[in-house]
Amino acid sequence: MTDAVQTPSSAGQFTKRVFSGIKPSGGLTLGNYLGAIKRFVDMQSPEFETVYCVVDLHAITVWQDPSELKTATREVAAGYLASGIDPTKSILFNQSQVSQHAELGWIFNCVTRVGWMNRMTQFKDKAGANSENVSLGLYAYPSLMAADILLYHATHVPVGDDQKQHVELTRDIASKFNHDFKADFFPLCEPVIEGPAMRIMNLRDGTKKMSKSGESDMERINMTDDADKIAKKFKKAKTDPEALPETLEGLKGRPEARNLIDIYAALSDQTSEAVIKEYAGAGWGRFKPALADLAVDKLAPISTEMSRYMDDPAEIDRILADGAARARAIAAPILDKTYEIVGLLK
Ligand code: TYM
Repeated sequence: MTDAVQTPSSAGQFTKRVFSGIKPSGGLTLGNYLGAIKRFVDMQSPEFETVYCVVDLHAITVWQDPSELKTATREVAAGYLASGIDPTKSILFNQSQVSQHAELGWIFNCVTRVGWMNRMTQFKDKAGANSENVSLGLYAYPSLMAADILLYHATHVPVGDDQKQHVELTRDIASKFNHDFKADFFPLCEPVIEGPAMRIMNLRDGTKKMSKSGESDMERINMTDDADKIAKKFKKAKTDPEALPETLEGLKGRPEARNLIDIYAALSDQTSEAVIKEYAGAGWGRFKPALADLAVDKLAPISTEMSRYMDDPAEIDRILADGAARARAIAAPILDKTYEIVGLLK
């Protein structure tokens, strides 16, 4: 580990440190796996220090049943571990055990402008017509997300496409803080949004994102689904009557078909171009069973491993507590320095 508090002026001069997080609300989907967790596993390498979080303070921006929240927190941790996040290589913890997240979040609430928050499309989507009645936390959420990232001086933030705007806002918050306090302190982090799985879509409607909260279970693959369920959901996934074209161009206007090609590509570590080439001219009778087999092959062992972890909650809690202590060791000096820059008396 390098010195926790780094102060050079651009992200390029900081230790390459990855931070990302997942909310424990409503279970993990194939979207979370391919858009996030699988890529987090790939980034565990000597090139990066990797810090991965179960962001429970974000989950409570909408109502969570307290006992279900504990289970959901352990389940996200189990999903990370079962997919290959190695607690000896990465720091893995839940956000609320490191109080510095909430403290830096407050500082950033005082830096962030209301006008910036009003432009957050995810808030608009989530609040919908009900925006007067949602929690203040849901509105301030992107400022806490910036704190999550900047508390570690993270330089790289792997996320799915839906989080891009929030990572860009994090850069704006870092810039404004550095400018207002004339302190070259927070790095401008890079969103890492690449590969075929940046936006996995609903299996029943290819124009909607696959999410934890969709109405029907057939719309999504859950990371806890067993082999039979995974195969059944792919075989019943909505498609169209046409065969697969020779190029991705030919999939324009066919969102369900494009989504299944992208899922196949991400699961098999290929590009979508390579997959369409391999299956050019194939009908769904050939492609869907191949996809179902591939998905079962890759996902069923993870689901089995997740339930093994879930049978031992004490072990999960031990891993999270250990990760939290290591996270605090990086976060505390960065928060202390932030307080000093802001002029808060110790
Ligand atoms: P969350 O919990 O909604 O999602 C976790 C991660 O999964 C990605 N994802 C998807 N990727 C592709 N296709 C999909 N259908 C799909 N659904 C979800 C998300 O893009 C995300 O990367 N605000 C964040 C959590 C967060 C965070 C952070 C992330 C809090 N603090 C700091 C990065 C850094 C969220 O709600 O993600």
